Amino acid sequence: MTRMAKPNITLVQGDITEQDVDAVVNAANSSLLGGGGVDGAIHRKGGPEILAECRVLRRSPEYGKGLPTGQAVATTAGWLPATWVIHTVGPVWSRSEDRSGLLASCYRESLRVADGLGARSVAFPAVSTGVYGWPLDDGARIALETVRQADTEVEEVRFVLFDDRSYAAFAS
Ligand code: AR6
Repeated sequence: MTRMAKPNITLVQGDITEQDVDAVVNAANSSLLGGGGVDGAIHRKGGPEILAECRVLRRSPEYGKGLPTGQAVATTAGWLPATWVIHTVGPVWSRSEDRSGLLASCYRESLRVADGLGARSVAFPAVSTGVYGWPLDDGARIALETVRQADTEVEEVRFVLFDDRSYAAFAS
């Protein structure tokens, strides 16, 4: 049996759809039916099978109303090099309400789903820091702290940062 431990964390600047890992995490929305940013790129490059599986999930009693914020669910990864896509829904940034627990939950729940799949390497984008408006430095802090504290069988967590600014936020 594999022992739960802390994963090694690596940072790369690049495109999450090109990562050769067991699972890539999608910064989805609760409809699971696609969108822009990472979500758009994953469905575009992964092909129609991912969306077909998402539609099946949406017909199930558990996800009939959508995937709640802070939770995660897996599909296969279609044409991507990864084996699975773990879809999670980040919180929309709010100035008046502290939603950081929900953002931390995205990382924790994605790792829990990865453990259920037997995934050993997982690539994450900077969830919520694009369309959902989360300040980059704070989003990076929450991501790193949560993964550092996680007990998981995942051996490598790779943060895949799209541009210089987001890479710098995670590296600093
Ligand atoms: N690889 C890695 N990172 C990327 C890529 C990519 N191919 N494309 C964008 N990013 P976002 P959110 C970065 O907007 O804020 C969608 O419409 C991007 O620069 O993808 O959680 C969903 O359907 C940013 O740093 O996700 C939801 O409606 C980070 O990934 C909503 O957007 C996250 O940006 C979710 O918004």
